Amino acid sequence: MKNIVVLVSGGGTNLARLIQAQQQGEITGERITCVISSSPEAYALTRAAEAGIPSRVIDIKRYKGKRGEYCDALCAALDAEHADLVVYAGFMVILCGDILRKYDGKMINVHPSLLPAFGGEGFYGLKVHEAALARGVKISGATVHYVNAECDGGAIILQKAVAVKSTDTAEVLQKRIMEEAEQVILPQAVELLTRRKD
Ligand code: GAR
Repeated sequence: MKNIVVLVSGGGTNLARLIQAQQQGEITGERITCVISSSPEAYALTRAAEAGIPSRVIDIKRYKGKRGEYCDALCAALDAEHADLVVYAGFMVILCGDILRKYDGKMINVHPSLLPAFGGEGFYGLKVHEAALARGVKISGATVHYVNAECDGGAIILQKAVAVKSTDTAEVLQKRIMEEAEQVILPQAVELLTRRKD
């Protein structure tokens, strides 16, 4: 069994879906062994506790102006957890330094757009959907990709498109993309990587 460590910052909808996928046998060769949050207030921590999954908090607010130190602390936590696969599920910290080299090919992120559209620094959460609606796109969706030094720039693993409706608000579009795209392709990508031999 490989160890999945899930990184979160907020609500944890995608974490909940991964837990469900594990319980329903959609994820086979790996199990979620730890959840690490960048915020002590993240509701994702409650979801982890309810599922009996151990968690850690590495609070980004305690590392103001010290992103390198934050990344080193996170890297040490991943080492301590013997992480085989690291899944960003609404994790809102851009990483740098050794962690990217050490976990190259082992860290994946779900992003709520069809990358490379509406990706990169400043495009996160609701802002992605606000930008998509402002641009008038008719199709958006979600992408699962490897994490590398370029924010949202790693190789794409899976994508799923979702039609944008003329009546959509950013909140409505976010919910539909979460339900119809992110929550479909994230467990699929995890299962795909589970079968990878390394
Ligand atoms: C999700 O839509 C996720 O794709 C997005 O934030 C939301 C977090 O929701 N992530 C990004 O924008 C990363 N750039 P959750 O905490 O409820 O899963």
